Amino acid sequence: MSNIEQTLSIIKPDAVERNLIENIKSIFTSNNLNIKETKKIHLTKEEAAEFYSVHQSKPFYDNLCSYLSSGPIVVMILEGENAVLSNRKLMGATDPKNAEKNTIRKLYGISIDKNSVHGSDSVDNAKKEINFFFKN
Ligand code: CMP
Repeated sequence: MSNIEQTLSIIKPDAVERNLIENIKSIFTSNNLNIKETKKIHLTKEEAAEFYSVHQSKPFYDNLCSYLSSGPIVVMILEGENAVLSNRKLMGATDPKNAEKNTIRKLYGISIDKNSVHGSDSVDNAKKEINFFFKN
């Protein structure tokens, strides 16, 4: 039975800065994730803090919010079969040094902070994250 989902993907400042937008988008589209919406934005630190509020108790929170707001990002709605899990497999482990071969973070990530992409970790969070960036 088919299970078409939507998930949110972010191309982070390190990857935008290195002109990796098209390379990363083509990994999604060649793996059956269609890009339904895409926009390039530059968040304020306050907006980044709101987006990452689930991490507010973590020691890396302040640094994370500064980083996400340090330059332009590309936010996308990806749609396809099991999109949440499919996107997470394509991204690879959070820390690029633990990511599997040919995953986006292995190919392009620099460090656990500059790990090139973010992706929703569940269908529920995907809905919240999509709504955060693409409210009508
Ligand atoms: P992301 O998937 O965007 O979700 C939260 C981000 O926090 C994560 O990717 C990492 O870039 C960043 N981060 C920094 N330090 C850590 C850590 N110790 N554990 C998990 N995530 C971290």
